[in-house]
Amino acid sequence: MSRIATIEIDGKKYEFPVIEVTENELAIDIKTLRAVTGGVTTIDPGYKNTGSCESAITFLDGEEGILRYRGYSIEELAEKADFLEVAYLLIFGELPTKVELEKFHSDIKGQAIVDEDIKKIIDGFPKAAHPMGVLSSLTSALVAFNPTSVNVDSEEEMYNAIVRILGKFPVLTAWAYRKQAGLPLDYGDNSLGYVENFMKMMFKKPTEEYECNPVVVDALDKLLILHADHEQNCSTSTVRIVGSSNAGLFVSLSAGINALWGPLHGGANQAVIEMLEAIKEDDGDTKKYMAKAKDKSDPFRLMGFGHRVYKNFDPRAKIIKVSADKVMHELGVEDPILEIAKGLEKEALEDKYFVDRKLYPNVDFYSGIIYRALGIPTDMFTPMFALGRLPGWIAQWREMRQRKEPIGRPRQVYIGETYRPFKKVEDR
Ligand code: CMC
Repeated sequence: MSRIATIEIDGKKYEFPVIEVTENELAIDIKTLRAVTGGVTTIDPGYKNTGSCESAITFLDGEEGILRYRGYSIEELAEKADFLEVAYLLIFGELPTKVELEKFHSDIKGQAIVDEDIKKIIDGFPKAAHPMGVLSSLTSALVAFNPTSVNVDSEEEMYNAIVRILGKFPVLTAWAYRKQAGLPLDYGDNSLGYVENFMKMMFKKPTEEYECNPVVVDALDKLLILHADHEQNCSTSTVRIVGSSNAGLFVSLSAGINALWGPLHGGANQAVIEMLEAIKEDDGDTKKYMAKAKDKSDPFRLMGFGHRVYKNFDPRAKIIKVSADKVMHELGVEDPILEIAKGLEKEALEDKYFVDRKLYPNVDFYSGIIYRALGIPTDMFTPMFALGRLPGWIAQWREMRQRKEPIGRPRQVYIGETYRPFKKVEDR
C-alpha cells in the first residue's frame, strides 16, 4: 500500500509520496514541493529532520543505539575484522575475499610514498601548527602532485584513486606529527600491517629500532574501525557536498578534515582530555563542571556527551570503554583521568538535566584515554579520527558520484531587508 503525506497551505492540499526503505524507515519525498506549491520551501537548521541523500553504506538507529556498516554490526566488526577489511567493506560494499584483501593491501602499499617536494611544504609550517591544519593542507596539496581528476565512470580509475589516498594518508598523518615533534620525516615498512606500519611511521626514532606492541596495534585497529563511518555527519556531508560540484576526491577529503576538526565534531576527543585534565587540576571537582554544563549562561558543554542522532548509548562508546580498561590493564598504565571520566559519566547518567535530554557518552568520551595510553599526543587525537574516518569519506564520496547526485545547494529562508534604494556615501 503506497503511503501519502498531505500538506495543507491556505486550504489547498498537496500530496507527497512517503517512501518506506530498508529497516522500515519512512521518509516524505518532497522533491516536487517547490514546483507544486509555487515556491514554498522547508526550513530545518542543522538538517535535524532532513535526509540529504539515499545511502546504502551505514545504518544508524539512534533510539536503539544500533550502528551497522553495510549490514554488519559494529560490535561484530570491532571484534572480528581488521581495519583494512572494514575499509574495503565500506567502500566496495562487500567483505573482501582473502585474495581481494591481499591485493587491496598490496596496492595500498604500492602507493605509500609521497613526492619528495611535499617535505618542502611541511618545512614551511611552524612547529606549533595544529596537525589537523597541516593534514588538511597536505591532503589538498596532493592534488598538485596528482592533477588528473578521477573518471568516476571507470572502476579502475576509481580504485586507483582510492588506494592512492589510503596509501599516502597515513604517511601525511605521521609526518604532521613528526614535524611537530622535531623528528626526521621517514617512511614506514611495507612488510608490516597497515596499523603497525602507521605506528612505526609516527614513533620510530632514527637511533633505535621500533618494536610495536601487539596490544597497541590491536587497540588502535579497533579504534579505527569504530571511527570508520557514521553516515551523514558534519564532515561526511561536507565531503559529499564538496564532491557534488564534481570537485576531486582529495580536495573533498581535505574539506572533510577541516569539518572534522571542530570541537563539536571530531575535535571533541582532544577537548574531552583537556576538560578531564582541567577537572584533575581542579581537585577532581566534577560537580563544578556538571553545574557549568547545565548553566545556560555558560557556554561550557560536557565534552564527549550528547549526540545529534543517538538518544541512547553510543554503541561505539560502550566498546571503547571496555577497550580502555583492557588496554590500560594490559599496558600497565594508570591514568587518574580514567577514574575522573568514569565518575563524570556516572554523575551525568543520574542527573535529571542529562537524563531529560537523553545525553549519553559518545565515541569521543573514552577514545582520548586510549590514545593517551598508546602514547599518542593530545593534538594528534583528531588526526587519528581522520585516519579512521578516511574509508567512510571515500565510500560516501564514491557513492555520491556513482549515483550522479545533483550538486548540493540548500535553499534558505530570507529574513533580511526588502528592497531599498542605494544612498551615496556623502548622503548616509
Ligand atoms: N553538555 C551540556 N548540555 C548539552 C550537551 C553537552 N555536551 N549536549 C547537548 N546539550 C543540551 C543542549 O544545551 C540542549 O539543551 P536545551 O534543550 O535545554 O537547549 C540539548 O542538550 C540538545 O542539544 P543540541 O545542541 O540541540 O543538540 P545537537 O544535536 O544540536 O548537538 C552535539 C549535538 C554533539 C553537538 C552536542 O551534544 C554537543 O555539543 N556535545 C559536546 C561535543 C561532543 O562531544 N561532540 C562529539 C559528538 S560525537 C563525535 C562525532 O561528531 O561523530
